[in-house]
Amino acid sequence: MLQIQQNISLKPFNTFGIDVKAAFFAEIFNVEDLKALFNKDITKTQKLLVIGGGSNILFTQDYDGLVVKISISGIESLIEGNTVKVTAGAGVVWNDFVNYCVAHNFAGTENLSLIPGTVGASPVQNIGAYGVELKDIFHSCTAFEIETGNIKTFNYDDCHFGYRESIFKGDLKGKYIITSVTFNLKTEAVINTSYGAIETELQKRGIEKPNIADVSAAVSHIRVSKLPDPSTIGNAGSFFKNPVIEKYEFADVVSNHPDVVHYPTADGKVKLAAGWLIEQCGYKGKIAGNTGTWKNQALVLVNHGNASGTEIFNFSEQIIDSVKSTFGVTLEREVNIL
Ligand code: EPU
Repeated sequence: MLQIQQNISLKPFNTFGIDVKAAFFAEIFNVEDLKALFNKDITKTQKLLVIGGGSNILFTQDYDGLVVKISISGIESLIEGNTVKVTAGAGVVWNDFVNYCVAHNFAGTENLSLIPGTVGASPVQNIGAYGVELKDIFHSCTAFEIETGNIKTFNYDDCHFGYRESIFKGDLKGKYIITSVTFNLKTEAVINTSYGAIETELQKRGIEKPNIADVSAAVSHIRVSKLPDPSTIGNAGSFFKNPVIEKYEFADVVSNHPDVVHYPTADGKVKLAAGWLIEQCGYKGKIAGNTGTWKNQALVLVNHGNASGTEIFNFSEQIIDSVKSTFGVTLEREVNIL
């Protein structure tokens, strides 16, 4: 039964653990709940924020509107020869979905092990890690159109995926709520260990012919060793995107900083490792009041206890200024600021 609560603390609903309040809050367990909610006037009079795992948001103030938490569950799979289509509810915790796939020996998600967040949020920012992006395994998703209440299917081409980008963050921002995602996976493992750290970790474990459970375990191990666990130290993963710059801009950077960590992109640009840039500015593991950067990964900002969103935001401004004045490169936040 749909319930709308008032004056609810959002602390349990954002992985930074920021203690702000939502004026109104509703949790959605199925599409019928969504339809019932959007039949109510409150959705016309209040501003709206849709959240999944709350793993990509920084609240800097109370939310004076309606927060809608998507908790639509369920996973189904359909095997067709050596491919399998797996459909998961938008509220399924991403790593539970990965674990389901690994347990069923469905290949494709294992490099994305332990990413925080939910299935429904995964296409929005085209999550990625260790050489794989969501778009590589995406088949389609269904979404509720806020204006009409219709459910629409989005295929791969409709989603305009880019690096941490999709149409749901762009032209269609605020117009649809993703209700389920269908993935194209393989029943015969196609292992991708191209990312050096995975190869190294598998070698350390003496594994020559890894299966998908081995890759998932290696990725999980790497993540746990480099990234803080949001259940103990508030954070939202990478706070900034890795900046992508033009070749001529890169020529400037590399002439002053020959050891800059960089990668070519498919469209002839250059991606810089933001973690490296931040570390060079002296920020790795820095503690600034209640906030700071993580000791093993400077790209991750953390809440050491009772940080306010504004404190973390102001610290991120300092980092942007410092990287700009040292390298002439402007960092963009990956996390949504509210
Ligand atoms: N580096 C440093 N210092 C640091 C951090 C990184 O020098 O403090 C260097 C590393 O040595 C390495 C390079 O930067 O040479 C890249 O580092 P890493 O492999 O840790 O990856 P990343 O580019 O910093 C991205 C994603 C992560 C994802 C990893 C692994 C973005 C914004 N971040 O980080 O995604 O887990 O690759 O594939 O693209 C996230 O989005 O929340 C996230 C954690």
